Amino acid sequence: MAATDLTPDEFGFISTLLKDRSGLALTPDKGYLLETRLQPIARTHGLTDVKALIAKLRTAPPAALVHEVIESMTTNESMFFRDTKPFDHLSKVVFPALKAAGKSRIRIWSAACSTGQEPYSIAMTIKEEAAKYPGLQAEIYATDLAEKVLERSRSGIYSQFEVQRGLPIMLLMKYFKQVPGNMWQLNADIKSMVTFAPGNLLGSFASMGKFDIIFCRNVLIYFDEKAKADVMNRIATILNPPGYLFLGGAESTIGLTQKLVPMGDHRGLFTLGV
Ligand SMILES: C[S@@+](CC[C@H](N)C(=O)[O-])C[C@H]1O[C@@H](n2cnc3c(N)ncnc32)[C@H](O)[C@@H]1O
Repeated sequence: MAATDLTPDEFGFISTLLKDRSGLALTPDKGYLLETRLQPIARTHGLTDVKALIAKLRTAPPAALVHEVIESMTTNESMFFRDTKPFDHLSKVVFPALKAAGKSRIRIWSAACSTGQEPYSIAMTIKEEAAKYPGLQAEIYATDLAEKVLERSRSGIYSQFEVQRGLPIMLLMKYFKQVPGNMWQLNADIKSMVTFAPGNLLGSFASMGKFDIIFCRNVLIYFDEKAKADVMNRIATILNPPGYLFLGGAESTIGLTQKLVPMGDHRGLFTLGV
């Protein structure tokens, strides 16, 4: 059965579930994604196909099954120093500005951290810049909806392929050691700079406190405009002024909120509006 065989009612049910629980806006042309991601779950649970899985989801399903379905539909692609520029902006624009503002303690949130490359790239950037900021205390909090990626993040172990994507060789040599299986283990010093926790961008941010810098990269592209604007507006409420938000290369606050405005030429970097 192809997912395109789903009735409009079945497709409507599953897309509403995903949108309500994770923000994912699934367009009808993405039916094949449902098939490839949900078929293995159906099989594991002894169900004949995706239709049967959807039927089960409609009748008071166990919370774990719902989470498994939601998690299976996430896209967890990530890499060290993704797009390079944000990390240049961090060291050349944001850190100097926070120093000029007299901040010696900063809190950073990696809001959809996937397998950890983003928060660990932030941690390595801080380490590399540390000499310029004596006494700087930085806390990095990293969250994701998907539990499987958080487990991987916490391990700090990456494949040869993963460390070859975006990570400068000098930093690989400095902060990783090779372990059996052609894998690379991040050193304890960098690992200890990051705290990982589950977190859904659709949920309340109230318990997390405030941040000076937020990375929310390459996740809002999967949301519809209303959900994007809602997350951005709530992010603005937990940023300490001047407040810095990093979005992905294809993402912007323009047309969605005036609470966060682009920072001139610094593509992908936004700050609190006046
Ligand atoms: C493509 S990855 C981006 C990772 C990293 N920020 C980067 O730019 O490389 C998107 C991540 O967003 C997570 N995600 C999706 N919906 C989410 C939500 N509602 N709340 C928190 N994380 C979510 C996914 O699990 C996935 O790990």
